[in-house]
Amino acid sequence: MITIAVANQKGGEGKTTTSLNLAMGLARRNYKTLLIDMDPQANSTGIFVNPDTLDKDLAQLFQSATKLSDIIVPAYNENLWLAPSSMRLAEMETISVNSVEAPYVLRDALQEVSHFDFAIIDCPPSLSIFTVNSLVASNYVLIPLQAEKFSMDGIMGLQQTISSIKKRINPELEILGALITQLKPQTLLTKTILPVLSKYFKIFEHTISDGVAIGESHLAKKSVFDYNRTSRQSQEYEGFLEEVLRELKK
Ligand SMILES: Nc1ncnc2c1ncn2[C@@H]1O[C@H](COP(=O)(O)OP(=O)(O)OP(=O)(O)O)[C@@H](O)[C@H]1O
Ligand SMILES: [Mg+2]
Repeated sequence: MITIAVANQKGGEGKTTTSLNLAMGLARRNYKTLLIDMDPQANSTGIFVNPDTLDKDLAQLFQSATKLSDIIVPAYNENLWLAPSSMRLAEMETISVNSVEAPYVLRDALQEVSHFDFAIIDCPPSLSIFTVNSLVASNYVLIPLQAEKFSMDGIMGLQQTISSIKKRINPELEILGALITQLKPQTLLTKTILPVLSKYFKIFEHTISDGVAIGESHLAKKSVFDYNRTSRQSQEYEGFLEEVLRELKK
């Protein structure tokens, strides 16, 4: 199983959009995929299920009250499953920091579901215990970000967290790359942003432009591929997916 954490502690950079479309894109290519919603906001969860209908979610996993396989639900495609979250997960943050086991909950739980080809983890917008759990459990980190000044400011914090987890807990962790999302036509990417960013990370050649198809697909509770196959963003996420698969084969 290849586990990819989709992380950026800044809010609204495209983590959820990228996680769910990456997971669905892999499922559509016949990879057995598990989407793990590590964010108590439960945005990924809400796309695939009605959170009110679930009696168990990742909060129970963090309470050691259940196994991962007991909370996983099917998600719209025969190859896609979801480990849902809810607001209850937020309460686990203060409870679990008191335990030495805290950073390892997800890594240990994933051992039981290693029959999946991929696990994609949608991280919360913070460097909380949930992001730490995700990075500890992952082979790769994927960083979605908007090509803007404020997006860059937070990158150092993330970079440091990744380095210390790599050094102390998970030496295998690698940065897969940064994906530029919500790209506006007037942004001067090549002259200004890319030279700064590429000092820190590999930047994916494919970028995701800003467009209504994304917001509409969220409202329709679908991946962008299922919502509008011909939209520009659907094609861009498709290209990005091919690039990810090529990168993983290297
Ligand atoms: N390519 C895009 N074009 C237009 N809107 C987009 C695009 N990508 C994401 N958005 C919108 O930007 C907002 C933030 O996206 P998303 O929820 O994926 O970010 P996030 O990093 O998961 O946010 P959070 O930090 O709150 O979890 C959403 O309203 C989403 O619909
Ligand atoms: Mg999100």
